[in-house]
Amino acid sequence: MRRVLAAALLGAIACGTADALVATDAGDDDAAALDAAIDTKKVPPPQFDSSVAPVTGPDKLSDTGLYSDFASRTVAPANVAYAPHYEHWVDGATQKRWLYLPPNSRIDTSNMGGWLFPVGTKAWKELSFGGRVIETRMLWKERADAWFEVAYVWAADGSDAYAQPNGEKNALDAGHDVPNQTQCNDCHFNVTDTLIGVSALQLSNGGNGLLTTFASQGKLTVNPGTEYDVPGDGGVKAALAYLHTNCGHCHNDSSHIILQTPLHLDVEPDDVTIDTTGAYASAMHLVMKHTTPNGDTLAIVPGDPDHSGLLWRMSTRNTSWQMPPFGTLEVDDAGVQLVRDWIASLPP
Ligand code: HEC
Ligand code: HEC
Repeated sequence: MRRVLAAALLGAIACGTADALVATDAGDDDAAALDAAIDTKKVPPPQFDSSVAPVTGPDKLSDTGLYSDFASRTVAPANVAYAPHYEHWVDGATQKRWLYLPPNSRIDTSNMGGWLFPVGTKAWKELSFGGRVIETRMLWKERADAWFEVAYVWAADGSDAYAQPNGEKNALDAGHDVPNQTQCNDCHFNVTDTLIGVSALQLSNGGNGLLTTFASQGKLTVNPGTEYDVPGDGGVKAALAYLHTNCGHCHNDSSHIILQTPLHLDVEPDDVTIDTTGAYASAMHLVMKHTTPNGDTLAIVPGDPDHSGLLWRMSTRNTSWQMPPFGTLEVDDAGVQLVRDWIASLPP
């Protein structure tokens, strides 16, 4: 179920950036709405708010606690390897992930759709292109009010990986741009407590997911007693899962972006039928704020993918129209095809 907007206006940071994504005269209303809503937003990470004490983190990956023995790349036993049920597209990267929860701590799961993590939580995500490890990203809840977010870019000789707060274009000539800290934040700040794929839905896996393991180990304050999945079947389910995974972390109730567009593309744990999902409830016939250059005005026109602006925006790159707006240089052709087939299958 979609929550009440005002209660969930949580992000503040990316608004300027986000509005600047599309050159337009629209935006004054948004700016006023953002100002009005600012009091209800959560504390921005210190690197973006001078009133909060800064957080810093290790300069080298070898000092982050990921490995117990760096030379042999032995991951410390306390760091749990996991994979989300549905994987985020990062230009075809091979991805590995680990999660660390401090001893005897629990994830506050009282809101199953918006978990709160214990102070000290760390997550890493390693990205390889063409069989080479290029970067390892880390999110660390260093204090109750602050996550440290950075990408470590590997040295060509693999001797270590070094924090790159400003990101790095074409790192190691792999054709991949490592995001800067602002970009980490522009995706990760739009969910309840920074971690995106460590969620009830993404840790579910047909009843055998990490969700069940964590529940049995007492690591969740509320045991859901079940696992979750995206509703629907076949191509419908696949498209909803794709949109949730690649778009839902920005287009959801916890995100300030909801002030710019009512588009929701997330799936919440209590979306047990397709009609309550963000895509069905908000995107059909939605008049977009900006008509696309080919004259499309609606986000999704059921039965007509060629006039659905949402599909066009996810099929474009290197312009301010691209969706996602950053973090990817290449169109996900398979993902576009899934969404195309789904829109084509919708009754007009
Ligand atoms: C375009 C959006 C986007 C950007 C930019 C981005 N991430 Fe993420 N990240 C995601 C999504 C979506 C997931 C969840 C799915 C997954 O694990 O692949 C994720 C997962 C992660 C995870 C695993 C834990 C989690 O949140 O689920 C880490 C760690 C992480 N990102 C770190 C970073 C860091 C550090 C940066 C900046 C250097 C960054 N990310 C930039 C979208 C983004
Ligand atoms: C990093 C956050 C982020 C991610 C991830 C993201 N979007 Fe967006 N999206 C925005 C912002 C900000 C806007 C408003 C500014 C604009 O129109 O460019 C927007 C606007 C849109 C619009 C126009 C809505 C309107 O009412 O005008 C569509 C359609 C859209 N996004 C689709 C998608 C799809 C599909 C995906 C996933 C493939 C996606 N977005 C992923 C941030 C994001």
